[in-house]
Amino acid sequence: MAKVITVFNQKGGVGKTTTVVNLSAALAKLKKKVLVIDLDPQANATSGFGIEKDNEKNIYDLLIESDKDVIQATGIKNLDIIPSSSDLAGVEIEISNMDNWQYLLKEKLKGLIEDYDYCFIDSPPSLGVLSMMSLVSSDSILIPVQSEYYALEGVGQLMNTITLVNENFNPDIKIEGVVMCMYDSRTNLSVQVSEEVKAFFEDLVYNTTIPRNVRLAEAPSHGMTVFEYDRFSKGARSYMKLAKEFLSRE
Ligand SMILES: Nc1ncnc2c1ncn2[C@@H]1O[C@H](COP(=O)(O)OP(=O)(O)O)[C@@H](O)[C@H]1O
Ligand SMILES: [Mg+2]
Repeated sequence: MAKVITVFNQKGGVGKTTTVVNLSAALAKLKKKVLVIDLDPQANATSGFGIEKDNEKNIYDLLIESDKDVIQATGIKNLDIIPSSSDLAGVEIEISNMDNWQYLLKEKLKGLIEDYDYCFIDSPPSLGVLSMMSLVSSDSILIPVQSEYYALEGVGQLMNTITLVNENFNPDIKIEGVVMCMYDSRTNLSVQVSEEVKAFFEDLVYNTTIPRNVRLAEAPSHGMTVFEYDRFSKGARSYMKLAKEFLSRE
C-alpha cells in the first residue's frame, strides 16, 4: 500500500515542487515505486518531468470526470505521474459545493495507488480546497522550509491547519519531516534560520539540507530532474542524501 505524502508549505517559492520532483526521482533510483500527483494548477511538477500540461489526461479528469486512466509514465524507471491541468484552478468552487468534498481526492485515488511504495502530492501555495483535499488524503506531510528571514512566518497557520485536518478529517496524519531548502552554510542567516526551525520542529528536521544550487533551478526548464540534468551536481547529491535519510527513518 502506498504511503501518501503531501509536500506542503503555504508559502510559494520555498522548494515544494523541486523537492517533489527530485526526492521522487531519487527514491525511484533507489528502486522504490513512486507516483507523483501534481495538484497545483501551475503544473510545475508536470512540466518538470517534461510532460506537457493540458495535453495528457490529468488530475482534473480524475477528480471531475472520474476517469481512472490518468497515470502517465515519466520516462524514469519506477516513477509515474498524474499530471496537473490549468483547468484545476477553475474547479475549486465547484468541488467545494460537493458533499464531503474534503474526501474527494482520497476516494478517487482508491484502486489507483496500491502498487506504489510512495505517492507524493505537490500542492499549491495556499490553504484552499486543493491543499485541504491533499492533506485529508495523506498519511503524512513533508514541509520544505526556505532558509531565509520569515521562514517561520505562516508556520503557526500551517500547524493550525494540520490540527484542523487531524481533528476533523484525518486523525492519523503526521509530520513526515521538515527539510531546509536553498540552504547556504556560509551565511549566518541560513544557520540562524535553521536553528530556529530546529527549535520549533526538533527531531522532525532532516539532517540533510538542500543547498542553493543553480542546477536544481535549471533542470526543470529542460523537462528533466536534476539526476538526468547533472547527476554529479551538489543538488543531485543532496536530494539523493535526503532520499536515503527519508528511507532510514521509515
Ligand atoms: N535548492 C535550490 N537551489 C536553487 N534554486 C532552487 C532550489 N530549490 C528551488 N529552486 C528554485 O526556486 C524557485 C521556487 O522553487 P519551487 O520548488 O518551484 O518552489 P514552490 O513549489 O514551493 O513554489 C524555482 O525557480 C526553483 O527552480
Ligand atoms: Mg510549486
